[in-house]
Amino acid sequence: MTNVGPPGPWQSVARSIGLMSADGTVAATIFAEMSALAARTGAVNLGQGFPDVDGPQAAKDAAIAAIRDGRNQYAPGDGVPELRRAIADHQRRHYGLDLDPDSEVLVSTGATEGIAASVLALAGPGDEVLTLEPFYDVHAACIALSGATHVTAPLVPRDGTFRLDVAALRAAASPRTRMIVINTPHNPTGAVLTPAELEAVAAVAREHDAVVVTDEVYEHLVYDGARHVPVATLPGMRDRTLTVSSSGKTFSLTGWKIGWVSGPADLITAVRTVKQFLTFSSGAPFQPAIAEVLADDATPRALAASLSERRDLVCEGLTAAGFDVSVPAGTYFVSADASGLGFDDGIELCRRLPELAGVVAVPVAAFCTPGSPTSRALGSWVRFTYVKQREVLEEGVRRLVTAFG
Ligand SMILES: Cc1ncc(COP(=O)(O)O)c(C=O)c1O
Repeated sequence: MTNVGPPGPWQSVARSIGLMSADGTVAATIFAEMSALAARTGAVNLGQGFPDVDGPQAAKDAAIAAIRDGRNQYAPGDGVPELRRAIADHQRRHYGLDLDPDSEVLVSTGATEGIAASVLALAGPGDEVLTLEPFYDVHAACIALSGATHVTAPLVPRDGTFRLDVAALRAAASPRTRMIVINTPHNPTGAVLTPAELEAVAAVAREHDAVVVTDEVYEHLVYDGARHVPVATLPGMRDRTLTVSSSGKTFSLTGWKIGWVSGPADLITAVRTVKQFLTFSSGAPFQPAIAEVLADDATPRALAASLSERRDLVCEGLTAAGFDVSVPAGTYFVSADASGLGFDDGIELCRRLPELAGVVAVPVAAFCTPGSPTSRALGSWVRFTYVKQREVLEEGVRRLVTAFG
């Protein structure tokens, strides 16, 4: 913890994700705290979600070749043309969405910048931005930075999975709803929104003339025949939807930070206008490399198949250890309720888990508005990642079963 610094909008960012306490001290994010704890204690780190095996050799070779070929100066602000074309092809091939690569596709510094530029471009003081809760922390932080008011609709545990509370979504919307930010497949719950849930989001957006920003970074990581449906494919939604994705999760190249936003030209113009003053452009040699591998559908398919097996391993292990597991249909996270083990406070459990079991996880409350009804309802829930090698997961599960089973 450090003492609070100068006044400024950063304070509302810190507050939005619970990093600032009442006495004005600022904490590290729970992810940084838990990763430091894992490093200090030698615990198996199932907290932060990044793969421990790199993505395809072809992508690495292509990036090295691009560096050798001198593609080391600024890329165009929109992204290199071959990557914009590859993104448009990807959206057509997988979802039947037709995009003009020149006016309807924008390359960003990861999905993170795509989300930030979209929110900052279109929402501001006086507006409400509606998100799911739990939410990815970047969504809340960007809304806080924009000065808009953050309103949420909960995902609730039901029949071994999480479902959107559609009635709460409708009730949370108002004439001031400028934007709805969703994430499917969803971190941290692993829920893949159903067509009916997506239609409910679309109906609210149409009724209130709101823009939908949809974070689809786990679009290819779905299991058990679940199908990812981009909200942009729903009737009447193409013209009011900004679809954000990234190569990080799909190709296990999270450090390259090559992401993108697609949508109708007028919305992309708005996002581009802000994005050019955030980073302008980044990752010049990585962009052509991603353009090359984005045509390869076999790699993400193989990753999903392997993750599906690793998901089963961790879900079975957590159940054997006494957790109440919500089986994820997508992403590489599983959320589980620890109340059956006698833990009502997931934050406290995560702080003690290295000592109790030699494992690190993160509390689901870290993905909620501090003190909100959803953060209380999910107070005993913790999230584990399964995007680690099988031996690492087996050891983590063995430790949890030994400690609690
Ligand atoms: C839901 C979600 N959106 C976005 C991101 C970040 O994507 P990128 O690394 O491409 O900025 C993550 C990373 O964990 C995520 O879970």
